Amino acid sequence: MSTSTTPTTSASAAVTLPAAVPAISEGEYRARIARFFDEMKDNSVAFVVGADEKLRSNDTDYKFRQSSDVLYLNGFPQPDAILAFVKVTKEDQKLVMFVLPKDPTKETWTGFREGTEGAKAKYFADVAFVVDDFSKEAAKMLAKATTVYYHYGHNHGVNKKFRALYEADPKDLLNVNQIVHAHRMIKSTAEIAMIRHAGTISAEAHIEAMKRCAREVGTVTEGKLQATLEFQFGDKGAQSVAYQSIVAGGNNANTLHYTLNDKPLKDGDLVLIDAACEFGGYASDITRTFPVNGKFSDAQREIYALVLKAQLAAIDASKPGCTLRSVHEVAVQVLREGLVDLGVLPAGMRTQDGAEKLLADAKAAGTEKDLLTLGVLYMHGTGHWMGLDVHDVAKNGTKNPSHKLVPTKAGNVFTVEPGLYFDANDKRMPARYRGIGVRIEDDVVITDTGCEVLTAKVPKSIDEIEALMAEATKSS
Ligand code: GLY
Ligand code: MN
Ligand code: MN
Repeated sequence: MSTSTTPTTSASAAVTLPAAVPAISEGEYRARIARFFDEMKDNSVAFVVGADEKLRSNDTDYKFRQSSDVLYLNGFPQPDAILAFVKVTKEDQKLVMFVLPKDPTKETWTGFREGTEGAKAKYFADVAFVVDDFSKEAAKMLAKATTVYYHYGHNHGVNKKFRALYEADPKDLLNVNQIVHAHRMIKSTAEIAMIRHAGTISAEAHIEAMKRCAREVGTVTEGKLQATLEFQFGDKGAQSVAYQSIVAGGNNANTLHYTLNDKPLKDGDLVLIDAACEFGGYASDITRTFPVNGKFSDAQREIYALVLKAQLAAIDASKPGCTLRSVHEVAVQVLREGLVDLGVLPAGMRTQDGAEKLLADAKAAGTEKDLLTLGVLYMHGTGHWMGLDVHDVAKNGTKNPSHKLVPTKAGNVFTVEPGLYFDANDKRMPARYRGIGVRIEDDVVITDTGCEVLTAKVPKSIDEIEALMAEATKSS
């Protein structure tokens, strides 16, 4: 039996943030760097590349976000940095950093730069150079190494420089992600505290959005709820959204990554909110779906209750040794059986084998396009790893499906987010449910005996949601 927590929020309860704000200690960064060196071969060099600025419009950039691998290893927060781990033997290893130079004129416009002195004083560099020296200094490092670790990531300028160096002096090339991503998979106590804090702030924001929606039925819009959520994130100390907020009324919920958020919310519709903050670089990821007017219709209630049942079963199955795939299968089986009971799917689809047989028959008969299957109603996975990236890394690469088969251990963090999507314009859907889209998402950390739900403070039972929204209208 898993030790997962279910939400206990009462209608009027407010979420209280802890007085002490969590942080990653200097000792933890030092341990991460040491662990990285330990896994490198002798006579090797590993380059971990930071992010560059990304152009938003003409000559203005998006808000800078450091690459998660640099954030993980030493927390250096500024653009155009490169970490070089230079290892001869265990006794002879150096962290070398390449950073933007101090430049009083540029700093007047775009802010303080740590420069080489800051890199050494505050970010654990043994040696530091300005980034324009990268090609010259990296060539010397490569000349002494027999193995080089690199990953061709998003910083195209550095990729180009590295490729030229490597082609001039080839070595055994290994993917640096094989080391750092494996380490990022298991979260430390401090990292879990960061994610829990992000989840608590996001939970509070969801509660405020639910309350506002109830108070302003008739005039509330998707954009206004987005504004409430993102105000709360900043007001409670988060630095950013963890991903673009999704506030989707009615049929918009059937677009999985709907981010327009520019429509009025209609009395009688559901609204799906998938929004959460990033705190100290760590993500949270919460989805709640609730009635705009605070009261579920019968049809909405039927679908919502089924998705919630699947989510609770999947959370209950989240314990050491489970896999992302096994948790998904638990959710899928609950949804399959529930949809048969509701008359949405034919009785023959109660089991996976039965569903596969009906699909094979339809393919043979050329009627596959007319067949409503669970895959049409639920087209995404039940969860993904989460950490410094909202869709976090897996040791063997997030694009490689085998990471979904790796048994989990204490410290793995992932989302549990089943949904059902009845597109209003799809004639295969029963008329009763058309236009309903429901997803319920929480974040869990595997513990020694089960899991802890890190986002449990937002109500999700029908009774809790209705009570919270009813209460909000009384107190307005
Ligand atoms: N918020 C994106 C996701 O749930 O995966
Ligand atoms: Mn998610
Ligand atoms: Mn989400």
